[in-house]
Amino acid sequence: MINVTKTYLPSLEKYQDFVQRIFESGWLTNNGEFTRTLEKRLSEYLQVPYVVLVSNGTLALQIAYRLLDVKNQAITTPFSFVATSSSLVWEGIQPVFADIDSENFNIDPKNVEKLISPLTSAIVGVHVFGNPCDDEALSTISKAHSIPIIYDAAHAFGVNYKGKSIAGLGDISTFSFHATKIFHTIEGGAIIVKDKATYDRAKLLINFGIPGYDQISELGINAKMNEFQAAMGLCILDEIDNIIESRKVVSDRYTDALSPINSLTLQHFNANATNNYAYFPVVFQSENILLNVIKELNRFEISPRRYFYPSLEKLNYVKPQVMPIADSISRRVLCLPLFGELEWGVQKKIIEIVKGLA
Ligand SMILES: Cc1ncc(COP(=O)(O)O)c(C=O)c1O
Repeated sequence: MINVTKTYLPSLEKYQDFVQRIFESGWLTNNGEFTRTLEKRLSEYLQVPYVVLVSNGTLALQIAYRLLDVKNQAITTPFSFVATSSSLVWEGIQPVFADIDSENFNIDPKNVEKLISPLTSAIVGVHVFGNPCDDEALSTISKAHSIPIIYDAAHAFGVNYKGKSIAGLGDISTFSFHATKIFHTIEGGAIIVKDKATYDRAKLLINFGIPGYDQISELGINAKMNEFQAAMGLCILDEIDNIIESRKVVSDRYTDALSPINSLTLQHFNANATNNYAYFPVVFQSENILLNVIKELNRFEISPRRYFYPSLEKLNYVKPQVMPIADSISRRVLCLPLFGELEWGVQKKIIEIVKGLA
């Protein structure tokens, strides 16, 4: 079966060396050596001063809301993975959706401005499929209303915007390092903060609010990364540039073959950004065409993904809103299989089917 992505695994020997060291030290979790080393190496790679590693990207968002005291309502995008919204609801915050831009698929700042109210306490943007949000426009709104921005950068590891990592954008950015992401720690995530005080508070919150023996200083949770996860991250970080490069080859082949097809829409990528080639979304003219394409691909054991579907304003635990653009895109968008080892023969078949039915 060819799936939408294939988890990248480092050499077993390399990972085993780390595992052996974990066994020798007997230190499996709780801010161990590999977690601390990975935080340092990621802060260098992402060009940011403070990286807090956590057990997954959903908890990274939840801790970010707590760090910035997000309450009542947050304005966010309906076109994302469910965790962007469910994490808000889980924290008792109401997601207020601002519809997306039909070309770049990100939250449209024009729609954000209109929704600001005295109850708004944050803007939560997502760099959808690795494509950076319009940070200038969102920052202007954020400053004008003194509301922080949190970027869910789960898709955007390794993406640069105007020469700098997107990790530094917003008041806080978060990552998911789930096994399906281009950089992963099996399960995992990170919170990117700007200063030492916030870093220290985040480290406290992810460890039950326990600063040291016999002390509990505030309400916390368990969101710690363990040493086996950090070891996977250290192995993969060595190879991340090659991973992105090999995905580029596959992604470029899709672009060359599919961009001339008038009945298909491809994501309009930010001209000031680099691409990490994490996804290859295509938008068909109707949901029916998309369903036919899926059926035909499935016949060849190829499994693309309706990502993101459904649009999040349809969740049964959010206040209903009408999002015409997100709804329309989410019904028609399909992420095609994309990973470095995708064989050209298989990719040719995918292209042939998409072109034939589009
Ligand atoms: C945009 C987005 N946000 C948040 C998450 C949640 O991350 P995790 O699965 O690590 O909890 C994901 C994960 O797939 C995601 O794609």
